[in-house]
Amino acid sequence: MMCSRVSNRIVRCASGGENSYPAKLQPSCLSTVKFRSNKPNDHASSDVSSSSRRAVIFSSIATLPCLLPLTHIFGSLQANAMPPGTKEYLLIKEELRKVLTKGKAAGVLRLVFHDAGTFEIDDNTGGMNGSIVYELERPENTGLKKSVKVLQKAKTQIDAIHPVSWADVIAVAGTEAVEVCGGPTITVSLGRQDSPGPDPEGKLPEETLDASGLKRCFHKKGFSTQELVALSGAHTLGSKGFGSPTSFDNSYYKVLLEKPWTPSGGMSTMIGLPSDHALVEDDECLRWIKKYAENENMFFEDFKNVYVKLVNSGVKWNSL
Ligand code: HEM
Repeated sequence: MMCSRVSNRIVRCASGGENSYPAKLQPSCLSTVKFRSNKPNDHASSDVSSSSRRAVIFSSIATLPCLLPLTHIFGSLQANAMPPGTKEYLLIKEELRKVLTKGKAAGVLRLVFHDAGTFEIDDNTGGMNGSIVYELERPENTGLKKSVKVLQKAKTQIDAIHPVSWADVIAVAGTEAVEVCGGPTITVSLGRQDSPGPDPEGKLPEETLDASGLKRCFHKKGFSTQELVALSGAHTLGSKGFGSPTSFDNSYYKVLLEKPWTPSGGMSTMIGLPSDHALVEDDECLRWIKKYAENENMFFEDFKNVYVKLVNSGVKWNSL
């Protein structure tokens, strides 16, 4: 087994213990960085005595089955997650800001959904766990390699000072993507653990789903219809024709109401995805689309809240 040392970091092979995470993208070279707790006074997981750690793990496992559905509904169990505002958080933001331009924002925000959106309450699989780095060859993830590459640059810099999980980097990167395009400022907690491998396949919504299919899919992930509509507003970024591709605003909802893809809409069938078109045909979704089209502040507020919920989906926090 190959082991190497890179700067001041210990780099081990993929078969490392449960508290390791991939430092490189290529599955053929799955180096892992030794995990360090992000708790301010807890610099290495090895500081914890094995018996007390066993007790923590045992009590976590014992209580987990009954806690899981509730933890998702209440935004996941974050009691031990590191709150934003620490110097580690600022470091992550700073390094991300260096690599994230407006032009790269859409891809990065999509990356967040493709990592976190695999979560399902019933089998408690998937979620915001960095597994996207193992899933880049999947057809639904076409085009996301370049977004991971962009973030890899920042992650390498951050890791040299304070090792960070892919899940945390991607969660914070999404907030930066929204902010750099003029959207709301969102803060998220840190302390997500990375998955050692890919999530199950087929968990992301297909673009051909109708509104009831979309609602069912999002409900299985713990999101209400209102949250489905608020999250879908992310499509305001990118080149699907909802206003400027690099402005995070409520033009998604305004354009949906115009239905430009219909013959009477008179513009282009190329605007939006079938799943976007489906939302506006559903009365419950339509009510929210109208509210967000009229009131951008309400959209920003709701998007902020549901974004935090998205990036906490299925998370295993460091201290668990
Ligand atoms: C509601 C179900 C959803 C479906 C079916 C869906 C599907 C898609 C598809 C097919 C694309 C086009 C990809 C391409 O250009 O090749 C796309 C783009 C995008 N999606 Fe979604 N998506 C959904 C929800 C979301 C959510 C919840 C987010 C984030 C919170 C998101 C963020 C984005 C962004 C930002 C883009 C533009 C990417 C770019 O232009 O580079 N999507 N989505």
